Amino acid sequence: MGAASNAHHTTSRRHGHQLILVTGGAGFIGSNFVLDWLATGNTPVVNLDRLTYAGNLHNLAAIKDDSRHVFVRGDIADRALVAALLQRYQPRAIVHFAAESHVDRSIHGPAEFIQTNLVGTFALLEEARAYWSGLPHAPREAFRFLHVSTDEVYGSLAAEDPAFSESTPYAPNSPYAASKAGSDHLVRAYHHTYGLPTVTTNCSNNYGPFQFPEKLIPLIILNAFRDKALPIYGDGRNVRDWLYVGDHCEGIRVALARGLSGETYNIGGRAERTNIDVVTAVCAIMDEHRPQNAPHSRLITYVKDRPGHDRRYAIDPGKIERELGWRPRQRFEDASGEYRTWVATNYGERNPA
Ligand code: NAD
Ligand code: DAU
Repeated sequence: MGAASNAHHTTSRRHGHQLILVTGGAGFIGSNFVLDWLATGNTPVVNLDRLTYAGNLHNLAAIKDDSRHVFVRGDIADRALVAALLQRYQPRAIVHFAAESHVDRSIHGPAEFIQTNLVGTFALLEEARAYWSGLPHAPREAFRFLHVSTDEVYGSLAAEDPAFSESTPYAPNSPYAASKAGSDHLVRAYHHTYGLPTVTTNCSNNYGPFQFPEKLIPLIILNAFRDKALPIYGDGRNVRDWLYVGDHCEGIRVALARGLSGETYNIGGRAERTNIDVVTAVCAIMDEHRPQNAPHSRLITYVKDRPGHDRRYAIDPGKIERELGWRPRQRFEDASGEYRTWVATNYGERNPA
């Protein structure tokens, strides 16, 4: 692992048109994807990540000596770098995770979101198009640009509304959601105008290892450990549809392998929960783990609501289930068991927060 070097020339020659280029593979979902990819197959990965505050090479520690993983620190908006990587490694696919991903940050400083999510995705699409156009027939036919997106592009549901489907009109409400919606539209346009073989996935809220602790679940765990307030925005009745990150990664692998060019697939866990229910469940686990500090629910503190806070998200994953045979494996309740292990490993007595 490390910056691309001459040592990796062999990787490019030996694995041309087999390996994949991942962007944002040091972040939460991207690192889970890279680890799962190498655990479930033998195709090498070139991982382009700028290592912003959200990227962390520790997430990839398990593969630090794995020659199938080439890490390149750089920006997706750096077209010369992206062009050079595509020429050098000749990937058969690009799996695009890199983004600014936190809604609250997008409210306080939207510029980075426009730069990476929109301008960065545009740069990547332009270079992907140039590379793909020059490929010989067979790898050109097989090539995929897989764009990882979010259910937030669909806006907010009322309690009685049906879940988001692939034909739900876009109605993004935060600068983050708008920047992701814009990137989805660019991907769509590159397929329709230039024929670039794209697949877009729109996923619901993920949980699992390596999530940065500014997002709800890891923030609550960390604060509970530190005996700090557990902030709940507004009335705590906003609903999110939770999916285990490993299930999301499997959905992406399936969409990459079998998804049709130009299609979009919604990925979700059929696990709608109010925020207060999620936080209460985390508190119950913490009570088991640290009974001396129970009840952790005493730390719950209602705070000022997020501006423009979407009320409810829910994904209908019927299309990817029917057409590609994907199913979520991990139930949210069972994941509490997973969290027990995770909490013990990451915040246990031998490894205090
Ligand atoms: P994250 O914030 O944890 O990680 C983002 C990664 O992208 C980081 O490693 C960061 O260093 C890298 N990055 C940022 N800007 C970059 C740039 N200009 N060039 C190269 N690398 C850059 O995000 P995440 O939660 O892992 O989300 C990954 C993708 O999945 C995003 O596109 C996000 O919109 C989407 N998504 C996330 C969720 C979720 O619940 N977290 C749900 C659905 C979709
Ligand atoms: O739906 C998919 C999206 O899920 C992804 O596209 C985003 O990248 C990801 O960050 C996530 O967005 P959310 O805004 O839903 O996630 P977050 O963890 O920030 O918040 C989850 C819910 O919890 C939301 O209703 C806001 C609320 N919340 C969040 C924080 C950080 C609180 O009540 N208190 C908090 O401190």
